[in-house]
Amino acid sequence: MAQALALPSAIACVAFASSYTSTNPGDSDIPVPDFQQYTVDLCTTDGLSSREAAVRLPETAPGESNLTQLKKLLMCKWERELLATLLDSGNDVILVLDDFDAEHHHLEPELIERTERVYRVSSFDALSDLSAVAADIRLRGERIDQVISFTEFSQLGAGYLQSLVAAQPTDLLDWVAVRDKRLMKERVRAAGIRTAASLSLPDPNDRERREHIKRTLRFPVVVKPALGFGTMSTRRADTPEQFDRILDDFHYEPLLPSRQLTVEEFVTGREMLVEGLWVNGEPEFFVAGSYLEPRLASIGSRTGGTTQLPDGAVLLPREENAQLYERLLDFCRRVNAAFHVTHAVTEVELFETADGELVFSEMCTRLGGSAVVPMVSEHLGEPVWHIIGRGLLSDRAHPREVVRRHVGFVNLSPEKPGVITTLPPVDEVAAIPGVARVWPVAKVGDTLSLSHGAEFCYIVIFGSDDRTEFDAAMKKVMTEYRVATEPAGSADPTSAR
Ligand SMILES: Nc1ncnc2c1ncn2[C@@H]1O[C@H](COP(=O)(O)OP(=O)(O)OP(=O)(O)O)[C@@H](O)[C@H]1O
Ligand SMILES: [Mg+2]
Repeated sequence: MAQALALPSAIACVAFASSYTSTNPGDSDIPVPDFQQYTVDLCTTDGLSSREAAVRLPETAPGESNLTQLKKLLMCKWERELLATLLDSGNDVILVLDDFDAEHHHLEPELIERTERVYRVSSFDALSDLSAVAADIRLRGERIDQVISFTEFSQLGAGYLQSLVAAQPTDLLDWVAVRDKRLMKERVRAAGIRTAASLSLPDPNDRERREHIKRTLRFPVVVKPALGFGTMSTRRADTPEQFDRILDDFHYEPLLPSRQLTVEEFVTGREMLVEGLWVNGEPEFFVAGSYLEPRLASIGSRTGGTTQLPDGAVLLPREENAQLYERLLDFCRRVNAAFHVTHAVTEVELFETADGELVFSEMCTRLGGSAVVPMVSEHLGEPVWHIIGRGLLSDRAHPREVVRRHVGFVNLSPEKPGVITTLPPVDEVAAIPGVARVWPVAKVGDTLSLSHGAEFCYIVIFGSDDRTEFDAAMKKVMTEYRVATEPAGSADPTSAR
C-alpha cells in the first residue's frame, strides 16, 4: 500500500500528482487502471457538461435564500463539475483524492487552488490513510458540515471519515448498510418492504452453511459478493447441484474488495432503476427507468453462447406512467426511512413482478453507474452534477421539470471477448435523429473480457421528445452497428483504424 499522504497545500498535491508513479506492486499484474478508467469515468464524468458551463444558482423568491449558511465541506474523489459547483457556492471545500484520481484524471490547478486543502490517500479502502486525514482535520480543531462522496469506490471511506470529523456524525452502520447487500436486505425486510429471501455465505467453502442454504432457499438462486458492484462474479444457480459447482470453483473478479458472499432467491420481473436527489426528505428530482433486459441476463448473454441480449435502459416519462411514479415515490420514501436518508442522492434498483408487485433489489447513496449520469442530465436539461451540488447545499427541494421526455442508452459490445478491431463511426451514429450523444468508452486495440457488467465499450445516449423518433433511433443503433473483436494475441488493431 502506498504511504499515507496528507498534503499541506493544494499546490503540493498537484505537483505530486503530475509526477507520481505507482509503487503498488499489484498495479502491473491486473488491468486495474484501464478498467477503472472506464468505470470511474462513467460514475463520475458528466459527458454533457461543458467545461466552461456557468454555474447557475436556483431561482429564489425575492428576499429568500435557498442556500443554508456557509459550510465546511469534505469532498471525496475528483468530479470536476461537482467540485466547481460546490466552490462557486462560496463554501469551503476540502478535497480528498486517491491514487486513481491522481493517475487518471486531469486535476485542474485553477479549481484545486480554490479548495481549502487537498489530501491524498492511496485508496478509500485504506484505513491508515483515512485515519491520518481525520487526525489532521481534528488537530486543526475543525469539524466538517457535510461529507460528499459519489463513487462506489469511496462510499465506505467517506462514511468512516464522516464518523471521525463530521460536526454531526451519523451511524457508520448506515453507510455500511448501503454497501453490504445482506445488511441492506435485513433493513428493508424489517421495514416491511418486499425483497428476495437471502442468506449470508461468508465462506464459499463452508459446506455446513451451503447445506443449510440449499435446504432453506427456493431455487433458482443468485450467488453474489456481499459488497459487489458491476454485476461482478454474480451467478444464477438453477439447482442445488449447480450451486455447489459454482461454489467449488468460485471466481472473484480482481477488483472485488471483499470475499464474502450472499445467496438470494431469484426474482423474476422487469428490472428497474430509480435515481433521486432528496433535499430534506423531498425529491429535487426523481427519475425512474427500466433496463432493456434484466442486468444479469444481459451480461450473462455476452459470454453464455446464447443470443446477445441488449445492454441498456430507458427512462420512463412521468406523464405516461403517473400511477407507477406514485407507487415508486412511496416505495423509495420507505426505503429512505430504512436507511435514515433525508438529504442525499440515491439509486434504488427493484423488480416489478408480473402481478405488478414492487420488489426491492438494492440501494446506494449515489447515482447509478453506466450511463445514468448523462441520461439524467439529458432528461433534466442540465448537467446533473450542477443540480446535485446546489441541491445538497440547499435547505428545501426545488422539484425539477423534465426537459427531454424520452431518454435511454445502449452499450454496444462485441459478441466475443478479445481485442477491439472495429467500432461504429462516432460522427455517423451521432448524426442519427434521436441520438443525443455517443460515448466511445473503449478504443480500437483495447481488450475486453466481457466477464462483468462494469466493462463498457461503446455507449449511445438517446434523447427525443418524439416517441417514434426515439424508438427508431434505438432500433437502428442496436441492429445496424456492431463492435468487432479478434481473440487477444491475434488481432492487428492498426488494420481496422
Ligand atoms: N435476487 C435476485 N433475483 C434476480 N436477479 C438478481 C438478484 N440479485 C441480483 N440479480 C441480478 O444481478 C444483477 C447484479 O446484482 P446486484 O444489483 O445485487 O449487484 P451489483 O453488482 O452491485 O449491481 P450493479 O451492476 O448495479 O453494480 C442485478 O442487476 C440483477 O439483474
Ligand atoms: Mg445493482
